Amino acid sequence: MTHPEMQEQLHALFPTESDIPAECRVLAPLHQRAILLNGEMHIWKGETRPVHSPVALRGADGSLTHVELGSFPVTGTVEADAAIAAASAAYNNGRGQWPTMSVADRISCVENFTNQIVARRHEIVNLIMWEIGKSLADSEKEFDRTIDYIKATIAELKNLDNANSRFQIVDGTIAQIRRSPLGIVLCMGPYNYPMNETFCTLIPALIMGNVVLFKPPRFGVLLYYPMLEAFRSAFPAGVINIVYGQGHVVVPHIMSSGKVNVLALIGTSKVADQLKKAHPKTNRLRAVLGLEAKNAAIILPDADIELTVKECIAGSLSFNGQRCTAIKMILVHQAIADQFLRRFCEEIGKLKIGMPWEKGVTLTPLPEMAKVAYMDECISDAVAKGAKVLNENGGASVETLFFPAVVFPVKDGMKLYREEQFGPVVPVAPFEDIETALEYVITSNHGQQVSIFGTNPDQIANLVDPLVNQVCRVNLNAQCQRSPDVFPFAGRKDSAEGTLSVHDALRSFSIRTMVAAKQSPASKKLLDSIVLGNKSNFVNTRFIL
Ligand code: G3H
Repeated sequence: MTHPEMQEQLHALFPTESDIPAECRVLAPLHQRAILLNGEMHIWKGETRPVHSPVALRGADGSLTHVELGSFPVTGTVEADAAIAAASAAYNNGRGQWPTMSVADRISCVENFTNQIVARRHEIVNLIMWEIGKSLADSEKEFDRTIDYIKATIAELKNLDNANSRFQIVDGTIAQIRRSPLGIVLCMGPYNYPMNETFCTLIPALIMGNVVLFKPPRFGVLLYYPMLEAFRSAFPAGVINIVYGQGHVVVPHIMSSGKVNVLALIGTSKVADQLKKAHPKTNRLRAVLGLEAKNAAIILPDADIELTVKECIAGSLSFNGQRCTAIKMILVHQAIADQFLRRFCEEIGKLKIGMPWEKGVTLTPLPEMAKVAYMDECISDAVAKGAKVLNENGGASVETLFFPAVVFPVKDGMKLYREEQFGPVVPVAPFEDIETALEYVITSNHGQQVSIFGTNPDQIANLVDPLVNQVCRVNLNAQCQRSPDVFPFAGRKDSAEGTLSVHDALRSFSIRTMVAAKQSPASKKLLDSIVLGNKSNFVNTRFIL
């Protein structure tokens, strides 16, 4: 599809060097050579991978050149083995300094780390923005939300540990029950929330006493460079080790070592499945997974149109639709479809598209050209099978800037019906009978969230009851979303394994362990002596303030 005028406008949105605000400029490419391994920065002399921004600069001749951000090491299986060895030594079968450290001391280390990265907020936010093209406002939000998450995690751990700082006596047995670490955690986050989603597993894993192998996402590697020194200095050697390189080579290799106790992956079910199978003893492996989703919005005939349009726009197009929680299919009742689609398309026409640092921008460059090609492919497939792009300039693109397309009517058999598009294409399908909408959710391979828009309490209640058994969050007259982070974030079918929230994550990365003794004077004397002599970090009644 060609949109000559729109394409001209999109092309003009790419900046020249001088259009970039001074405080956002990339002063010099960041060529990272340091690798954090076993508490030391090793200087890498091998192969590296260049990093280019989704943002391109417009030359005087109109050419577009992606901004060079720097490069990072492409390490291999040898370095992966060294990382495993460092982590194993730090954990030392649960005898290492970190897993045996008191909870209060572990909290201090995490606080020290947090203070160090807060001091580098500007640098990290700028790298998030340049590496993945997220708007400056959202990049700042991602950083601040992550810091809030760490603080909430610390507060929750204090509550948890204080609640366990006592003995229980049941049927003649005295016990102290606490949560203990699991061992080595392999942590991998996604490119769309490269900091927040990674830290939502990495921080609870660390603070519970596990040691970590961390593999940064495909896009969003350099933003970790300003954090390396904080990781090195805040934690004992080997507690956190960073692995670079080609995921499909390095990660299965790490899993096949059998040394990983927890796989924490925010990615796809296909990868999760392969990685679990690569572990020689799957019974020893715990998985904490956030996977793909195809969240549907179900719009009932009596829905408040203006509210529905507003929520569906935020739900389907925030950060160009690149959220695991995005609304990725809209099912609208026939009686309201024309009205909804007209207003939806009008409002999409008002969205600001441009460079990530611009005020009020919603649509920004996509991370790679392959994503643009996939968006085109989804649209062409639907159009060839009878759908239309309804909105003006829908699907127009220049380089990485892609104007959203509303595709209607999307039917079974089209890619957009089931595939997670993870981008700015919004499939819409009409329904007459509510059973059709329910059936769509029931037959989906995914089960993360759903949004219902309507005002009739009977009808909504009738939908809620079956839907809560299909997904893990039913949103009423609101978009799908993860936040607030203290609420459970989970999914059924191919969408997740385990539950993440500030509270649940601490449990996901630990196991309840107890020390028990017969209720006798001798036991009392023994336990008193351990507690009063402050001899153990596990058997104690200390209170953390
Ligand atoms: O991509 C998944 C994110 O965790 C979504 O978070 O729904 O709060 O934007 P959010």
